[in-house]
Amino acid sequence: MVDHLEPILEVSGLVKHYPLTQGILFKKQVGAVKAVDGVDFTLNKGETLGIVGESGCGKSTVAKMLVNLERPTEGLIKYKGEDLTKLSGKALKSVRRNIQMVFQDPYTSLNPRMTVGDIIGEPYEIHPEVAPKGDRRKKVQELLDVVGLNPEYINRYPHQFSGGQRQRIGIARGLALRPEVIVADEPVSALDVSVQAQVINLLDRLQSEFELSYVFIAHDLSIVRHISDRVGVMYLGRIVEIGRDEEIYDHPTHPYTQALLSAVPVPDPEAREHRERIILAGDVPSPTNIPSGCRFRTRCWKARERCALEVPLLAVPAEFRSVSGPAAHDSACHFAEEKQVVPSEEPGGMSPEGQEE
Ligand SMILES: Nc1ncnc2c1ncn2[C@@H]1O[C@H](COP(=O)(O)OP(=O)(O)OP(=O)(O)O)[C@@H](O)[C@H]1O
Ligand SMILES: [Mg+2]
Repeated sequence: MVDHLEPILEVSGLVKHYPLTQGILFKKQVGAVKAVDGVDFTLNKGETLGIVGESGCGKSTVAKMLVNLERPTEGLIKYKGEDLTKLSGKALKSVRRNIQMVFQDPYTSLNPRMTVGDIIGEPYEIHPEVAPKGDRRKKVQELLDVVGLNPEYINRYPHQFSGGQRQRIGIARGLALRPEVIVADEPVSALDVSVQAQVINLLDRLQSEFELSYVFIAHDLSIVRHISDRVGVMYLGRIVEIGRDEEIYDHPTHPYTQALLSAVPVPDPEAREHRERIILAGDVPSPTNIPSGCRFRTRCWKARERCALEVPLLAVPAEFRSVSGPAAHDSACHFAEEKQVVPSEEPGGMSPEGQEE
């Protein structure tokens, strides 16, 4: 954990709604896919913020907005205090250089017809000022070495590498412009379990070597635990709980986080015996039809009338109120301070009648 907190990325009120249309000739908007629906977080210099959540909760959409592959519908993304959503042209290009992405699937994200040298050096075509043409080959070979690949492989093609090696190539490309922030969208999910740890260790080493800050996206709380300083838990387009990793893992206050953690495998058999498994009721609602009030209430065993009426904001639970600002532990639950009452074996969630209040 970094000692002195210095925000490098500040995201507030981030929204991405995709219009839902009907008709072929005369497209009529009939609604919206609320892929991201009000996300706030701060990434501090030198730290790793893990973002976890189930498939479809909006993680990749957040990642794409951070690196400008998607324009937000609303909200701010500040890099060192400067709002990227207000920039365009040259100014945007020069700031964007500092925030790079590593993609999930190294099998599809590398162009099969390009050599490794061309893939890693491609960012220099857009930013020739970083490496003049004559220097590029040497720079790419250095990058190959940095990620643990033989610099002599520079003329090979992606199919000549294993999954883990391909992800190293993706990481080398992400580093080419010497960014300060790397947004890694499930960088190890497509890899064999035996290779995942090697790639995570590489990212860890590169973080100290190049003073990088990471947004590290994953499905699974157990993967981000090893690499994150702080963790944000996403549900249906929003962060529902965020805080230092030990607070999230040892004292989760949002019922959704508690349920996710109850599903993480515990190696110690005694601890496993004492743990209560929380089984959530129903499925995740559609992002085109988000429940009123708290979006998690239809699956929550704590839900009551207030939850249908009032949107819970990310707020600092009392026991952690001594920590404020970018390191705070926040939970978007009206009843976060209530002790956890586990509905063991009984699926959680409001009765169907209760949902419509
Ligand atoms: N271009 C698009 N047009 C319409 N809907 C989209 C578009 N991109 C994403 N979505 C929808 O937005 C929601 C969030 O998608 P996103 O890919 O961000 O989720 P995710 O958390 O990354 O999921 P996964 O874990 O499966 O990668 C999903 O319901 C998805 O279908
Ligand atoms: Mg995704």
